Amino acid sequence: MTDSPTPRIAIVTGASRGIGAAIAKQLAADGKHVVCVARNLDKLNEVKAEIESAGGAASVKTCDISDGAAIAAMIDGVTEEHGRLDVLVNNAGITRDNLLMRMTDEEFDEVISTNLRSVFVACRAASRTMVRGKFGRVINIGSVSGVVGNAGQANYAAAKAGLAGFTKSFAKELGKKNITANVIAPGFIATDMTDGLPDKIKDGVKVMTAAGRMGQPEEIAAAVAFLASDGASYVTGQVLAVDGGMTMS
Ligand code: NAI
Repeated sequence: MTDSPTPRIAIVTGASRGIGAAIAKQLAADGKHVVCVARNLDKLNEVKAEIESAGGAASVKTCDISDGAAIAAMIDGVTEEHGRLDVLVNNAGITRDNLLMRMTDEEFDEVISTNLRSVFVACRAASRTMVRGKFGRVINIGSVSGVVGNAGQANYAAAKAGLAGFTKSFAKELGKKNITANVIAPGFIATDMTDGLPDKIKDGVKVMTAAGRMGQPEEIAAAVAFLASDGASYVTGQVLAVDGGMTMS
């Protein structure tokens, strides 16, 4: 699925592990130069080495995405270095689960800042470059929690639902500039984030999904790869559930 003659430049946040690492590897396999972003340089370098040993191109940037100024500087830095920015995958995210009655202001604010505010800041910075380049693909990683809600995740569900409204607005503002923006809403995917969930919940996934199993990071990456491609030019403002059929109506 190689696109333009010169490699497209793609930023993937949270690329040090899990879904983000799988997305970075897939986009690199599709011929893009991938800028892998997270906080841990050693882990980022491991992902970069894997991409390069598979024949792909990657670089790394450390950035704490809960820090708005740091995100803007990171995006500006990538733009300066490469002269363009074509694809932005806002994947980094956290959970701070608690029942609503016990949830602290800090737990709420931290999740909103990391999972939602960071996406606004990144998209604002990226959109300027994408408008100049007359091309853009933004993919924001939401969650089924943002679509149907989840007990113990009021903060997380609010942030992920917020991403849908934000992304649709972004898509409407920039659609005529050949810039698309979509959300992928994963179901339960086997990563460090879900590793600690009780077996009862993991077993429940088998019943809740048509697929009868948890998903793999590569299955999210495959959907991102399509939305990041040149060919996805007429798909915008969508929330695509990649959840093994968990939320189908
Ligand atoms: P993970 O916990 O394995 O990886 C998260 C990544 O985000 C890591 O690279 C981490 O370093 C990075 N990150 C977190 N906070 C950061 C910060 N402040 N600054 C920079 N990087 C930061 O999580 P996983 O499972 O790979 O999830 C990726 C995305 O997919 C998240 O947005 C998550 O909410 C979403 N998601 C995951 C699901 C799952 O079942 N694993 C289900 C639905 C959505």
